[in-house]
Amino acid sequence: MKKYKISIIGGDGTGPEVVDETIKVLEHTKSKFNVEFDFVENDLGGDRYLKSGDLVTDLDIEQLGSSDSILLGAIGHPDVKPGILEQGILLKLRKEFDQYINLRPVVLYEGVETPLANKTPDDINFVVVRENTEGLYAGAGGYIHYGTDKEVATQESINTRSAIQRCIEYAFEFTSKNNRKKITLCAKTNVLTYAHDLWERVFYEVAEKYPDIETDYGHVDAVCMWMVKNPEWFDVIVTDNMFGDIITDLGAMIQGGMGIAAGGNINPNGVSMFEPIGGSAPKYTGKNVINPLACIAAASMMLDVLGEKEYANEIEKSIIKTAHNLDSLSAGKMGMSTTEVGDMVKEFILTNGE
Ligand code: IPM
Ligand code: MG
Repeated sequence: MKKYKISIIGGDGTGPEVVDETIKVLEHTKSKFNVEFDFVENDLGGDRYLKSGDLVTDLDIEQLGSSDSILLGAIGHPDVKPGILEQGILLKLRKEFDQYINLRPVVLYEGVETPLANKTPDDINFVVVRENTEGLYAGAGGYIHYGTDKEVATQESINTRSAIQRCIEYAFEFTSKNNRKKITLCAKTNVLTYAHDLWERVFYEVAEKYPDIETDYGHVDAVCMWMVKNPEWFDVIVTDNMFGDIITDLGAMIQGGMGIAAGGNINPNGVSMFEPIGGSAPKYTGKNVINPLACIAAASMMLDVLGEKEYANEIEKSIIKTAHNLDSLSAGKMGMSTTEVGDMVKEFILTNGE
């Protein structure tokens, strides 16, 4: 029997609630797939920061680094100035573990409502591969004459050939392994004439090794337009960190909302971290009304990356069935509580969807 050590970061707001439901689902279904879990809780987040000033300690890194994978609920606390926890915890962990891919499927499940008129699950089914370590997120820049009338602030986009290359190679491998057919590079080569010129050159260099995969290019503004107008044009999109951040929130909306959108911060040779992408939703905290499906979907992605394909698929199928039974995917409007939704996913897995 395979045993996985999973580090759990419930984090802030509704994070712990959705993570608890996910652990419940896994604990009750693991034996069916001959898998064992050792869940290790970590108290990173806004509450600990407010008490001790600690964001991520050396001990945290050691603990998290010794696990097979990390499952994260949410980071973001109303009493902490925006940026501190995001930079100090979420972005810090992505960088520390060199999770250089942010993988975000945009899939409309059967029976889930999309705000796009006349679009069906056949039309909305693509995956965004977002570079996750550099670009505008590299932290390069600074102030001159801080706080004066002459103040200058710069924030530079860092684009290294090696990071672009590993990201694009991952996207092509992913496309090929998952029987997808086409990759679109989403960039802005008409304005970012150095940085995205490099992206474009590397993209077509790597593409030569994959003659069966169709390639396409879209400027980010046009990609946003097409994601709404013609989402069926997309299969896999590869893009830089900032553009990936922006287009995946749009993606989450067209797939039915934050209640269902999951992502993986992946280091193919190291420790990856999976999360619902919806945030900490402070106003719903502790009310048993948040939708746990995105976090459960993140666990399904985690199992897929760990190599437990069948288990991952069965969870996904049960999520689809459960989503079908909800009035809405939004917090407070599901027609069921958080814990009832978790129970339903669990039951569908155990009964093979009966
Ligand atoms: C995301 C989030 C983060 C990001 C924030 C919280 C720093 O928006 O995971 O998409 O920008 O990457
Ligand atoms: Mg984002």
